[in-house]
Amino acid sequence: MSTVIKGGTIVTADLTYKADVKVEGGKIVEIGPNLSGTETLDATGCYIMPGGIDPHTHLEMPFMGTYSSDDFESGTRAALAGGTTMVVDFALPSPGQSLLEALTMWDNKSTRANCDYSFHMAITWWSEQVFNEMEAIVKDKGINTFKHFMAYKGALMVDDDEMFSSFQRCAALGALPLVHAENGDVVAQLQAKLLAEGNSGPEAHAYSRPAEVEGEATNRAIMIADMAGCPVYVVHTSCEQAHEAIRRARAKGMRVFGEPLIQHLTLDETEYFSKDWDHAARRVMSPPFRNKRHQDSLWAGLASGSLQVVATDHCAFTTAQKRFGVGDFTKIPNGTGGLEDRMPMLWTYGVNTGRITMNEFVAVTSTNIAKILNIYPKKGAILVGADADLVVWDPKRSKTIAANSQQSAIDYNVFEGKTVTGLPRFTLTRGVVAIEEGAVKTQEGHGEFVRRDPFPAVSTALSTWKEVTAPRAVQRSGIPATGV
Ligand code: URP
Ligand code: ZN
Ligand code: ZN
Ligand code: ZN
Repeated sequence: MSTVIKGGTIVTADLTYKADVKVEGGKIVEIGPNLSGTETLDATGCYIMPGGIDPHTHLEMPFMGTYSSDDFESGTRAALAGGTTMVVDFALPSPGQSLLEALTMWDNKSTRANCDYSFHMAITWWSEQVFNEMEAIVKDKGINTFKHFMAYKGALMVDDDEMFSSFQRCAALGALPLVHAENGDVVAQLQAKLLAEGNSGPEAHAYSRPAEVEGEATNRAIMIADMAGCPVYVVHTSCEQAHEAIRRARAKGMRVFGEPLIQHLTLDETEYFSKDWDHAARRVMSPPFRNKRHQDSLWAGLASGSLQVVATDHCAFTTAQKRFGVGDFTKIPNGTGGLEDRMPMLWTYGVNTGRITMNEFVAVTSTNIAKILNIYPKKGAILVGADADLVVWDPKRSKTIAANSQQSAIDYNVFEGKTVTGLPRFTLTRGVVAIEEGAVKTQEGHGEFVRRDPFPAVSTALSTWKEVTAPRAVQRSGIPATGV
């Protein structure tokens, strides 16, 4: 049984051309003119693109006294409805918990996934046990990325010494560290001050996390990575200061990656000034939404290549969960949704406005991510032999985003009322049609874990500062040039 996608224009990160795509056994088997197969999907007037990869989701995550409300079933259904065919979620050990034990918990949750997925492992504490388990996580479990929270003091936050130790371990293992870059000590003080002064509403969340706390932490993480001899990936880059730090580091030859979210690109801080408490609280996330100056900087970074990825940080909480923070903004669960809307919103506000090209759209939603995470060209490519994770994109199809027609399990949508033009006609996950003209045909449990092998390790001995002799030179050899 084979499927041919006929009559469309293939758009990849570097090419645009007319051809049919033949899919068999979950893989792309042929690309060319006039192909035939047992089944045909009509792509007339559409672009055939690699399915999106969202490198940053939190599905069914225990956080701030509750669990994020989209699980691997509803979350990946939302992803597919919006053209995303793979998600990378965070396995999150509680401080003191074994990494391998935490991974088993995430393995169990993910069995319901409708599309392929992978995990990042979070480092939330540091010990010899963590040091040792990191090797098993990389070599046995196929996870080559470790996330570090520089914020959420007293919960997930790690100190600089823990981060430096973990980064050196990453360098030795050929793994890539990720950082949530906000200065958690400063945030904690600002939160306490705001509350003491009687500022308890959701807008105070934004005041407690100014761009400076993100700029400082981004700079610090980059410098620590440089000294540890490893690359670094900065998640949810939301402001000019953080972007500038990334741009500067790249200009010096360091391998640093930045990931704006679709929310930060298209929604601004005025959302927090709403008189409606629920409206503002539903948009509480870290870092908070910023002003136009920061948004312009992020768009410029995507166009010029100094920022490489657009993600969602999908971490959806219901209105009832957000109301845990009535009277104290620090108790509002942090997080917003976006899995279903990332690609249509980026197409509408990026491609349709001329800010980015179609090829850049494919790069930042899929191909760059696959390269950075070391799964290219299995994912992120339209090539013979690649997985048939594809989206047949109809640039004329339009809808107005509304919570009552979304796949996500929550009761609102931060993009409510926005009209998007550019939507999937078909979304295929390893060759199987999951979305057809808006109709959902997902198969629970179809998703498979995608193993991500380490990059060539810098050195097997790089575990103490004394052994790091030439950080920059080491770093250059540590991760192959991905071209992103
Ligand atoms: O507010 C956010 N971003 N919630 C999810 C957890 C995180 O910090 O990424
Ligand atoms: Zn500290
Ligand atoms: Zn974060
Ligand atoms: Zn996150």
